[in-house]
Amino acid sequence: MAATSAHLRFDLALSRTALLLALHAALLHHDCAARPTPSRVVLGRRQQIDAVYNFGDSLSDTGNLLREVGAGSVVGSLPYGETLGEPTGRSSDGLLMIDYLANFLNLPYLPPYLDKSANLDHGANFAVAGATALDRSFLLDRGINVTFTNSSLSIQLQWFKTHLSSLCASKEEYCEEKLGRALFLVGEIGGNDYNYGLWYHNAIQEMKAYVPLVVGRIVDAVKVLIDLGAAHLIVPGNFPIGCHPSYLTQFEGANYDLDQNNCIEDLNEFCRFHNDQLQGAVDSLRRDHPRVTIEYADYYNVFLSLLTGADKNGFDQDSLLKACCGIGGAHNYDPSRTCGSRGVPTCTDPAKFISWDGLHLTQAAYKDLATQLFGDYLLRGKDVAA
Ligand SMILES: *[C@@H]1O[C@H](CO)[C@@H](O)[C@H](O)[C@H]1NC(C)=O
Ligand SMILES: *[C@@H]1O[C@H](CO)[C@@H](O)[C@H](O)[C@H]1NC(C)=O
Repeated sequence: MAATSAHLRFDLALSRTALLLALHAALLHHDCAARPTPSRVVLGRRQQIDAVYNFGDSLSDTGNLLREVGAGSVVGSLPYGETLGEPTGRSSDGLLMIDYLANFLNLPYLPPYLDKSANLDHGANFAVAGATALDRSFLLDRGINVTFTNSSLSIQLQWFKTHLSSLCASKEEYCEEKLGRALFLVGEIGGNDYNYGLWYHNAIQEMKAYVPLVVGRIVDAVKVLIDLGAAHLIVPGNFPIGCHPSYLTQFEGANYDLDQNNCIEDLNEFCRFHNDQLQGAVDSLRRDHPRVTIEYADYYNVFLSLLTGADKNGFDQDSLLKACCGIGGAHNYDPSRTCGSRGVPTCTDPAKFISWDGLHLTQAAYKDLATQLFGDYLLRGKDVAA
């Protein structure tokens, strides 16, 4: 298919493998780029957070999709998880930002809710790789067929309510107190709603119409959680997806401008459009709920900061826009032969790469991002508590 600047199209001779990639992309799709110093996440002061509840997609799924789909899922096999020594359902070689956050809080890694044997005393992870903010049926009515998972944000919230009713059955006060000392992450979510549209409909401008709907779903989820007793929430924005090897490959040859980081400016501008609306919504949520801490997590700018400072932090300067696990082209990415497909190699040192599979990031990148976002806050929180 020909590409025009107004209406980007890429060849959708997408195989099933490519669809799997799109799923992964859903996790990764959050990288938009920028240059100012990213703002840190600052939560309440003396609060001792002792549980984390997370809602999202492949950026933070620690094993739910694996349990939904079964071992056939690409994230259920090496090289996914190779840095951990085994696949866990995480869309990376190793740990994710949510793991580092738990670690910073001295809490155990957040168990996937669908792991029926998990101990959920310190929270639960409801994120599912491929999940959307909008419901599957809503998207299907608009010609967007979400094929990876049905577990959209509203379903994840339903799981949380089910969990809550078992948690609080006989001890309502304990439960209220428990939720008041919990940290809730609502997102990143929504990247997949756009991914599915961008991959199958190829129209950036068209997808802008979905932004208020996606932001609205995130706002609704925050309100539901506050009504249930949440007092500390983080709402992450999107990464600059124009820097992902998958998108760079898909849009190659199309008439799009590259920015100073060699990322696709139109896609990053789209991410900023989403992020700006989300930040505006977070501001009004704060005004409406002055007793609740609601922080926006600036995934976009911390990613750009990672990218521009990568050489100083041990990343290979020539591989910033290349997938570690992948094959072919300028970005080591081929949508018909993605990471996990037969014969697709993995780089020797994932810690030197930002992108793991073209759509998701390496453990090294996630660690850097989590430290930028949460490390400061937690250090400060400790000082205050001491
Ligand atoms: C959505 O995609 C699935 C899997 O490819 C397919 O089986 C199903 O028929 C599609 N649904 C619609 C309404 O197109
Ligand atoms: C999602 O829901 C549809 C329709 O109810 C069903 O056919 C499909 O198997 C479900 N997919 C998953 C991954 O659960």
